[in-house]
Amino acid sequence: MEQSLIPQSLAGKKILLGISGGIAAYKCADLTRRLIERGAQVQVVMTPAAKEFITPLTMQAVSGRPVSDSLLDPAAEASMGHIELAKWADLILLAPATSDLIARMRAGMGNDLLTTLILASDAPIAVAPAMNQQMYANAATQENLSVLTQRGMMIWGPAAGQQACGDVGYGRMLEPMELVAHSEDFFGPKPLQGISLAITAGPTREAIDPVRYISNHSSGKMGFAIAEAAANLGATVTLISGPVSLNTPSNVQRINVESAQQMHQVAMQQAINNQIFISCAAVADYRPSQVADQKIKKTDDSDQMQIVMVKNPDIVASVAALQEQRPFTVGFAAETQDVEKYARGKLAKKNLDMICANDVSVAGLGFNSNDNALHLYWQDGEQALETASKQQLAKQLLDIVALQYQQYSK
Ligand code: PMT
Repeated sequence: MEQSLIPQSLAGKKILLGISGGIAAYKCADLTRRLIERGAQVQVVMTPAAKEFITPLTMQAVSGRPVSDSLLDPAAEASMGHIELAKWADLILLAPATSDLIARMRAGMGNDLLTTLILASDAPIAVAPAMNQQMYANAATQENLSVLTQRGMMIWGPAAGQQACGDVGYGRMLEPMELVAHSEDFFGPKPLQGISLAITAGPTREAIDPVRYISNHSSGKMGFAIAEAAANLGATVTLISGPVSLNTPSNVQRINVESAQQMHQVAMQQAINNQIFISCAAVADYRPSQVADQKIKKTDDSDQMQIVMVKNPDIVASVAALQEQRPFTVGFAAETQDVEKYARGKLAKKNLDMICANDVSVAGLGFNSNDNALHLYWQDGEQALETASKQQLAKQLLDIVALQYQQYSK
């Protein structure tokens, strides 16, 4: 008999897939198939609106189980009633979760089978939002999601991109394989359980005058992916972020800063309270020596303008130099040539425990990209992490960080 090559990472896990009425519902057949391929049992529950987008017959065929869709159906209640369903699940995955479903959950309503069993279940709940970008950005939706987060629910996504309605922005449901990866992380080992981790991400902005600044192309994606992966692996995460337009990952505490000096101040406060410190931010090495109080005017007497720059504090080196309560300290190296030489140089000079080198001269990798490739160096080892999404790399990186941290803390 031919053996499946797909790892049985979800073997025996009971996943209740709650589908609400959004266009992304059509992806649920693929999602279900992929969860089942990995060993999960999937019980589908659909809202009335979901059935307008994908038929219960399709979902029954791919899940191998009758779909539950009615609270008031005596026959359905006689087989697996809503309370039984609520108790059955190891995980309730709501995908797609429309703004309406999210609002009803926030209000604690039980006006259909799905919301009723959410109320009746003590299973962990993951919400995969999917809606128009304006609806997602709406203060009501954002507030509803933050209340659900406070209640301990996990929010997986949404992603940004082209939407079915033609808009572009945040609101797309994560792709089926991304939801599978989140489910695997959820059920997988938690090597960072009980460990606190602080990470810097994004660029810094160094003011020239009230309207101008010097910055760089860091989007924050790499650092945010690490923060999210660390939380999924069980860590208590503090994310110190420069100005970026990214959503805060679930279960991550975020502190916003602008300049390198502000980031330095917050990082030093956090470093002594965290066991692991990762410096992924693209910190400006220099800042204007003076910030003009008023907008600097263009003059007619010269075609040149000079700005005198002074060095910023080196944040990761300051953390690594702590004499007491020094965390396991990981830096990044963004290089365009002689990557290994410069990365190893920074590892030694900044007294780091590990450095993650990326060649930012490669098109499509590094700054402001969705993918990256890293080469990790530490005192007596190294590991290449091949090109992958920043989310996948973050997980691989943290598995190695967790192992190295164990040795460090012995
Ligand atoms: O944000 P993305 O768009 O996803 O892009 C990701 C990234 C390319 C920014 C990221 O992968 C990365 O390489 N981050 C480090 C960028 C950087 O500033 O590298 P560096 O080689 O100049 O600095 C070396 C290390 O010192 C870094 O850990 C940096 O955070 C730290 N540093 C640098 C200067 C300074 N004043 N303080 C610091 O802590």
